[in-house]
Amino acid sequence: MTEAKAFDRVADDYDRMRGGMERGRQSAAQLAGDLTAGPVLEVGVGTGIVAAGLAELGHEVHGVDVSRPMLARAAQRLAGRVCAGDARALPFADGSFANLVFTHVLHLVGDMPLALREAARVLRPGGRLLAVHGDPGADPDELVAVLDRLAVLQPPRPDTPEGLDTAAREAGLERLRHEFAPDYERATTPRQLLESLERRLPPYLWDVGDEVWARVVEPALAALRELPDPDRPRVQRWRVHRSVYVKV
Ligand SMILES: C[S@@+](CC[C@H](N)C(=O)[O-])C[C@H]1O[C@@H](n2cnc3c(N)ncnc32)[C@H](O)[C@@H]1O
Repeated sequence: MTEAKAFDRVADDYDRMRGGMERGRQSAAQLAGDLTAGPVLEVGVGTGIVAAGLAELGHEVHGVDVSRPMLARAAQRLAGRVCAGDARALPFADGSFANLVFTHVLHLVGDMPLALREAARVLRPGGRLLAVHGDPGADPDELVAVLDRLAVLQPPRPDTPEGLDTAAREAGLERLRHEFAPDYERATTPRQLLESLERRLPPYLWDVGDEVWARVVEPALAALRELPDPDRPRVQRWRVHRSVYVKV
């Protein structure tokens, strides 16, 4: 089993760099139509932005995460409803939830098939698993071009639609639907993206050594520094894979 990617080191910057409540609300609105009646658990809840978006829509939402600094922020949004715990050994009894949500988490958990078995265990029969997973996509622009240059540093993702389907089926979850569809819109300036990359906020930059940094990352940063109007936001409309499963 590989190590889980706990987000301790980026907790202070996460909301500012990843869209904050605006993204949380947009993502929650996309997920809400697939929820069934009853409590929701978000696994890998992070700072709670998506969970809080669902709570604002009237759902009872609980959150769990391996990172205590991320959870401290989630606790401000979901008072009394967050706890520390690992997706691979959830601290909940069998059949506790009607819905379980993973957003941008399954590639980080360390063992996706085990996380799906745990998700199936804590769901009631007939309960729903909603996953936002796989590589997000946006139409090409100057900032997306820089991110594309860094894609070679991303480890292969286990949470492709096919990978997730297989693991879900083995965990006793039947697919209701899958879509690659709009999720959220974000305005980012070249300077903001530059800061995020220089500070190694994306997990795929955490362990990059000096040689690879100089050969792959530095030229991408140089291209970013040369863009005109570094403080003019560029708007991207991100599409995500969204899959819905039911516990049979
Ligand atoms: C990219 S953030 C997503 C947070 C939130 N779902 C969102 O969309 O804003 C990934 C989160 O998953 C958590 N995480 C990673 N591995 C985990 C695991 N094995 N169990 C629980 N949480 C995990 C990280 O600590 C981090 O808070």
